[in-house]
Amino acid sequence: MPGFELFGDLERKEVNDVLDNGVLMRYGFDAMRKGHWKAKELESELSKVFNSKHVQLVSSGTAAVSVALASAGIGAGDEVIMPTFTFVASFEAIMMLGAIPVLVDIDDTLTLDPEAVKNAITSKTKAVMVVQMCGSMGNMDALSSICDKHNLVFVEDACQAIGGSYKGKALGSIADVGCFSFDFVKTITCGEGGAVVTNNENYYTNADHYSDHGHDHIGKDRGAETHPNLGYNFRISELNAAVGLAQVKRLPEFIEIQKKNYSIIREALSEIQDVTFRTVPDGGVESYAFLNFFLPDLEKARKVSEAFKTNGIDACFHYYDNNWHYIRKWDHLKDLKSLYPISKEVKEGIEYLKTKSFEQSDYNIARNISCLIKLSWTEDEVKERANKMAELIKSII
Ligand SMILES: Cc1ncc(COP(=O)(O)O)c(C=O)c1O
Repeated sequence: MPGFELFGDLERKEVNDVLDNGVLMRYGFDAMRKGHWKAKELESELSKVFNSKHVQLVSSGTAAVSVALASAGIGAGDEVIMPTFTFVASFEAIMMLGAIPVLVDIDDTLTLDPEAVKNAITSKTKAVMVVQMCGSMGNMDALSSICDKHNLVFVEDACQAIGGSYKGKALGSIADVGCFSFDFVKTITCGEGGAVVTNNENYYTNADHYSDHGHDHIGKDRGAETHPNLGYNFRISELNAAVGLAQVKRLPEFIEIQKKNYSIIREALSEIQDVTFRTVPDGGVESYAFLNFFLPDLEKARKVSEAFKTNGIDACFHYYDNNWHYIRKWDHLKDLKSLYPISKEVKEGIEYLKTKSFEQSDYNIARNISCLIKLSWTEDEVKERANKMAELIKSII
């Protein structure tokens, strides 16, 4: 997924524009900036890419999730349903607002199982957050109708899925509010950065204010701006936005390369009878950032993962044994290891994690291998890699 593999003249030019005028901040300093508004330009480019009315850039994908939730009015004591397979940022962003992450099982889409979502709804539930892991998506129609029926905010974490789509709509633009990350290893990067995407005028205005200390951004005198609400600083810098502006122009090229490389590997693995692939819901098109496949059981998946590592097949993850992406290893969350006191509501709200088991998630993640698709491979390298992967798998299953 990394756009950083193909940094070039375009990125340098955009960054130099910012260095030439020296205005590293996205707001104000109108006279000094010689017409360069990189964050604003990137927001407008992303609006076109997502066909979405509003985009608010922020400092990271984690910030995007917190800002999205806060903008929709979610906070202390509210429950947010999220999947067991994601990045730690998902529960961090929820807990930062004093809200309670309610983790539920995934299905073979590798994200929220709609039945598990239904079963987890309580009177405290305020939002459902689907995480479009590894370039694909959940069953968006089913999840959306659950949210409509129960009057819940539908949040889409598409941090790992830029370039994917569902029924013709860009992932990240389908739910009430979407979130993106442009950290260093994403398909397009700003170094660090993120975005909140929405068609909801109110959420957008809230995100714009909240991510900049509550400033209303009215007029040209920052010191005279009022603060309709409390906020924080989740601003992106002009330097980061400049890198993103170059990268977003190259998104179609990046997705095309990902698709080509993904297809070569997928074809080679398709010939192995016991290898199956994650379910992509009808109408869904992956971003091809990862190829996800299932092996018959945990033992075989562990052996394949090890064989890949020792034979030079890098960037293939067996998330069951990984500390960052799956509930099984999140002891710091289960034990609520916090530097500062946590509210009684959150403590009680998280208690279920000490005893709850997630058999369905275990079943899917234990057998899953998730392989990153790089942009810099030559065709010969991808073919060689694909053949080697197939050989290794066949020698084990
Ligand atoms: C699914 C998901 N959500 C949120 C984030 C957080 O993004 P960031 O690293 O920009 O804070 C990530 C980062 O990897 C992610 O994969």
